[in-house]
Amino acid sequence: MRLDKYLAETAQCTRSEAKTLLQKGKVTVNGTLCKKGDTQLRETDVVAVEGRPLAYQKFVYIMLNKPEGVVSASIDKRDTTVVDLLGDAYPRRELFPAGRLDKTSTGFVLLTDDGGFAHDILAPKRHVSKTYTVTLDTPLTAEMKAGFAAGVTLADGTALSPAEVEAMTPDGLTVRVLLKQGVYHQIKRMFGVYGAGVNALHRDAIGGLALDAALAPGQWRELSDAEVAEITG
Ligand code: URA
Repeated sequence: MRLDKYLAETAQCTRSEAKTLLQKGKVTVNGTLCKKGDTQLRETDVVAVEGRPLAYQKFVYIMLNKPEGVVSASIDKRDTTVVDLLGDAYPRRELFPAGRLDKTSTGFVLLTDDGGFAHDILAPKRHVSKTYTVTLDTPLTAEMKAGFAAGVTLADGTALSPAEVEAMTPDGLTVRVLLKQGVYHQIKRMFGVYGAGVNALHRDAIGGLALDAALAPGQWRELSDAEVAEITG
């Protein structure tokens, strides 16, 4: 890869900002000052800006706490998207949400530019679970529990695979749901089969990785390699 491209990607700057860094003599390759953007790098080369070595990240993985009213898309004409919430932190990356939450839902959205990983965690065959806290307008019943465990058939005839549901409060209005599928409006439609409405829906975890409680709605942070591995277990 060319040095200017590498700089832009790892230092998260534009190509012209990378050029300025080079011209100002702030960049070294293996400890030697380098001002030429078209220098071809080898895998083992160590690039540093002002003495700080850069680490090349092939892909980024971001955990975001989606607030209500924000849409799970990259761009939208009317609404703020989950990618808009990142501001201009990643000008060189084409990040997108791996899986969707409804506009009214909140919680863990994973953003990445790794298409293969996104495909893997969404593929039903991979069985990556998603865990939700759901507030119902009518208490959880034994019929719903048994139906979820057996696999709900939606109003349009779609037969879903088994899911888990358990009450989290004595009144049965707050429940935890665990799904291994991602059908459009799935949870709302599953409860709809039993005449129950969903008042609030929050995603707590994807696979084995829980949403960081320190992230307020709208906040986000990058995941470590170990955390990314926890998603797929
Ligand atoms: N199921 C829904 O109905 N909505 C969501 O946002 C996620 C799962």
